[in-house]
Amino acid sequence: MTRVQSNPMMPSLATIVGVRDLATGIKLFQVALDDAEASAALRYKPGQFAEVSAFGVGESPFGIASTTARGETIEFAINRIGTVTDALHRMDVGDKIGVRGPLGNGFPMDEFKGKDIVILGGGIGGAPLRPVIHTILDHRTDYGKLTVFWAARSPDLLVFTDEYEDWRSRPDTELHLTVDRATPDWPYQEGLITTLVESVAPSAENAISITCGPPIMIRFAMLTLRKLGFSTGQNWVTLEAKMKCGIGKCGRCNLGGVYVCTDGPVFCFAKVEQFLESFV
Ligand code: FES
Repeated sequence: MTRVQSNPMMPSLATIVGVRDLATGIKLFQVALDDAEASAALRYKPGQFAEVSAFGVGESPFGIASTTARGETIEFAINRIGTVTDALHRMDVGDKIGVRGPLGNGFPMDEFKGKDIVILGGGIGGAPLRPVIHTILDHRTDYGKLTVFWAARSPDLLVFTDEYEDWRSRPDTELHLTVDRATPDWPYQEGLITTLVESVAPSAENAISITCGPPIMIRFAMLTLRKLGFSTGQNWVTLEAKMKCGIGKCGRCNLGGVYVCTDGPVFCFAKVEQFLESFV
């Protein structure tokens, strides 16, 4: 992976080159580094994150929602929930922001080759899983069956809806959708993602699972996967802890024996199971 700045606390200047609505209150920002050489050299892994700054307002960490293989721009799905995200939502194409990263470890995609992959994405938590899905779809024969469970509180909060048809059309790939509160025209499942996973019951044989979402969802997802025969060593999670520096200096993301920003945010569940109690 290539870091965009030699000083990890110094953001690189970047320009917003695209913005689109992804879901209610959630926008997808397409960002290009201003330094053309750094932009061309930028490499990151699915599951890594970056600190994005709105100058004069602040900085926040966001999972990277794109893959290096699909272009030189970096994409972030940003939910309007605080001062930094509010400032970013008021920006448009051409505006300048700061980007610090890529940070964190990312998913060991090579380790997953040859295995069936079960993905559980909840709400905006699905954003860092999109690069995992894209990587599998772009190297479809390297991986086994792909089963995606995608959830949100309501249909208008589902992210990347414009890609579902493509995901579904790929060989050996299933997409299952659910929302907590359906609208009258919602044609899919209503209810918890764990209920849906339990009813579809993907096989645990030669499989791994990947979950990203709110801590409470991760906790119940792990219980459901255990019922289906997945061991803790087969389950991978990406955690959304409170982060500040992103580089292991401030201690804010400390979770028992690990720092989410540098040891993670991607973990094999076996490694963090004992700490999750304090996290939820
Ligand atoms: S965010 Fe500062 S140590 Fe992890």
